[in-house]
Amino acid sequence: MGLPTFINILQPIFNFMITIISATNREASLTAKVAGIYSAILNASNVENQVMDLSELPQDFLFSNFYGSSTPAFVEMIEKYFGQSEKFIVVSPEYHGSYPGVFKALLDCTGGELIKAKKVALVGVASGRIGNLRGMDHLTALFHHLKAEVYSSKPKLSQINKILNEAGELNDAEAKGVINAQIQGFLAF
Ligand SMILES: Cc1cc2nc3c(=O)[nH]c(=O)nc-3n(C[C@H](O)[C@H](O)[C@H](O)COP(=O)(O)O)c2cc1C
Repeated sequence: MGLPTFINILQPIFNFMITIISATNREASLTAKVAGIYSAILNASNVENQVMDLSELPQDFLFSNFYGSSTPAFVEMIEKYFGQSEKFIVVSPEYHGSYPGVFKALLDCTGGELIKAKKVALVGVASGRIGNLRGMDHLTALFHHLKAEVYSSKPKLSQINKILNEAGELNDAEAKGVINAQIQGFLAF
């Protein structure tokens, strides 16, 4: 039996649910694979977590859940992924120099109350060279506007198509180190 890890030592006090949001509706996105990596790390440390993949949103959600109207399926989804979570890890691809519009549309339909005073970690994913750096800034401003607390470590996974293999595993030691350090810090945040 190996030595207990930092996360295992602290695990008994981590009795909260973390929702990991894959912030794109693009099917088979690399962002969803990165969200899966975060989930696997949390599972290995017995930290309760769930993945919300925006490709599973009802296709008409933006029009049927906006300003006064709502559908039972959407309300149930929001209660599950937002209401029952104290912490969020938002994994966001870079689309046109920022985070995807579908994520803003989701928050516009959801409202800020279920996010207020909760804690958020951000992860940028891009095939380009800056790993959604600007999207991380835009998301930080958005969450601060909603009065959520954003964790300072925000991994920017650039050239993601080169560092993720077919099985959805990261083959980049530096990226793995940054992710693990972020998770450790965020659990204690
Ligand atoms: C609509 C759209 C816009 C994109 N814009 C950018 C961009 O501005 N910069 C960049 O590095 N990659 C951009 N990409 C490529 C993504 O970074 C790439 O697809 C990566 O795998 C992450 O997105 P994914 O989760 O959809 O796979 C864009 C992709 C799409 C679908």
